[in-house]
Amino acid sequence: MLKALFIYLSKARWARQIVTRWGFARRAAGRFIAGDTLDEAITSVRALNARGFNVTLDHLGENVSALSDALRATDDYLVLIDRICGADVRANVSLKLTQLGLLQDLQACQDNLSCVVHKAQACGGFVRIDIEDSSTTDRTWQVYRGLRSQGLDNVGVAVQSYLYRSVDDVKKLLDDGARIRLVKGAYSEPANLAFPLKKDVDANFDALSRMIIDAALAAGSRPVSADGRVPPMMAIASHDPARVEAARAYAERVGLPKSALEFQMLYGIRQDLQEKLAAAGYPVRVYVPYGTEWYPYFVRRLAERPANVWFFLEHLVRG
Ligand code: FDA
Repeated sequence: MLKALFIYLSKARWARQIVTRWGFARRAAGRFIAGDTLDEAITSVRALNARGFNVTLDHLGENVSALSDALRATDDYLVLIDRICGADVRANVSLKLTQLGLLQDLQACQDNLSCVVHKAQACGGFVRIDIEDSSTTDRTWQVYRGLRSQGLDNVGVAVQSYLYRSVDDVKKLLDDGARIRLVKGAYSEPANLAFPLKKDVDANFDALSRMIIDAALAAGSRPVSADGRVPPMMAIASHDPARVEAARAYAERVGLPKSALEFQMLYGIRQDLQEKLAAAGYPVRVYVPYGTEWYPYFVRRLAERPANVWFFLEHLVRG
């Protein structure tokens, strides 16, 4: 119930206009966001790299309302990739297709993504397509397949374990050798599309993990690239110790090497678990968002964990 309310607020223009005027809200969001500028983001990447973590950089933005905004977002990603390559950091990029025009024109969105993925390819980089709410899932796979049919393989996807359809989606994606980031899912979905109970989302997460681990093993257990940019086929993106442990135990049992099992976590969340996994010899990638469009991302983080609302209110009291 609370989650649905926050997801509604994350999309509500009126709420965004109010909250983004509050200085304390921006300060609270700072826990999850590396900064407003690319320079600040690169400083964070260097610090994380120095501690042994790889990074995926998200230039915040989603649901643009015009194709001109999608073109601007595409240009921003081209600049970001130039910077990653020039700065020689261990990072790739994550983006949302509604930022590149998916809701306006599917072909234009695919063309925008194609520019970004070609640019990344030129310097051995990789682009991950984030997965958004279920109204965009079919179109997301369509754009992804369009890119793959151009012969591009430095692009990957994310799949949500809360959706019933994900088992079939993962089977099809694995037939195509897709690199998959497995997540639980951050949006509010109706019970006819998504498991309403956390225990079922978790069980499906473990089942999908096993499917992807088996496929990664069968495909030769390709490791994360030496420069940290291209992830292996399997990325577990969760802060839930039980999901992490289940994937680790299964991978070990079937013989998938540690270098072929990447763990991903969000900037500012469960650094203890990030450290523990890196110390155990697994590749760990931190998802680092930056930019001025922090509002929907921040409100989704509040939706995930009610305790974050208290943390937000503490900033209000402190002023
Ligand atoms: P769960 O929600 O069960 O949390 C487990 C534990 O993690 C909590 O007990 C708490 O300790 C900690 N935790 C989790 N969320 C927290 C928060 N917001 N603040 C503080 N602590 C928190 N979703 C999506 O729909 N599309 C996508 O493309 C992505 N991409 C993505 C990339 C990466 C790298 C990650 C880690 C996650 C995503 N997500 C996502 C978000 C994902 O779907 C999910 O909403 C969150 O990861 C929370 O779920 P957990 O798996 O962490 O488990």
